[in-house]
Amino acid sequence: ERYTVMIPAAGSGQRMGAGMNKLFLKLDGKPILIHTLEVFENDASCSNIILSIKESERTVIESMLNRFSISKVVALVEGGNERQQSVAACLRAYEGNGVVLVHDAARPFIEHEVIGKLVEVASVHGAAVAGVPVKDTIKIVEDGMVAETVERSKLWSIQTPQAFRYAILKEASDKAEAEGFLGTDESMIVERLGYSVRIVEGTYENVKMTTKEDIVFGEALLRQGR
Ligand code: C5P
Repeated sequence: ERYTVMIPAAGSGQRMGAGMNKLFLKLDGKPILIHTLEVFENDASCSNIILSIKESERTVIESMLNRFSISKVVALVEGGNERQQSVAACLRAYEGNGVVLVHDAARPFIEHEVIGKLVEVASVHGAAVAGVPVKDTIKIVEDGMVAETVERSKLWSIQTPQAFRYAILKEASDKAEAEGFLGTDESMIVERLGYSVRIVEGTYENVKMTTKEDIVFGEALLRQGR
């Protein structure tokens, strides 16, 4: 099954402390944004890419797409202050039906096999997200005190890609926008409408490049030929 991927790339990357959009930082000489785009450029089932960006970065991103011969980007739309708004902007630019994927520009190490499973599961069941079991013990903390320890065997770290039948994601996005609800991922806005979301087990390599340590990890993965 063919799919369209929506890639929000309009963040500022404050936690990276790079003084610029972290997606422009290089891993092995190539911007993180390009590493991520190349995965989809080279995924035979991906028909096209919709990218949301900051208007002030349009020129530099357009020239990057040219320089690295990224040909599947059909729309460069203006993102918003929140990630959810940046995804909503992608959805407004989409024409069609079928399965759409949302993937963070900051996750360059997503594997083709996981993408394939997500598309397959979403196509049958409506919604699927990539995730991995958490490694740490997770506690709810209030005022510096442990309030509760959540049973670890039930906890998963949820990543992107997140895959949906277009109609489901569009309904969820429109409702969230109309009701002023802000989720931290797309799954959350879909769950609140009562749709069930399946988990596809991903990989621990699929980290979101967020802080400096993630860059060190990313460079190490590339040295190993990833
Ligand atoms: O900040 P964080 O890494 O969690 O953002 C995840 C992805 O969402 C990044 O690729 C970032 O560029 C994008 N984003 C966006 N618009 C925002 C905030 C984040 O497109 N307002």
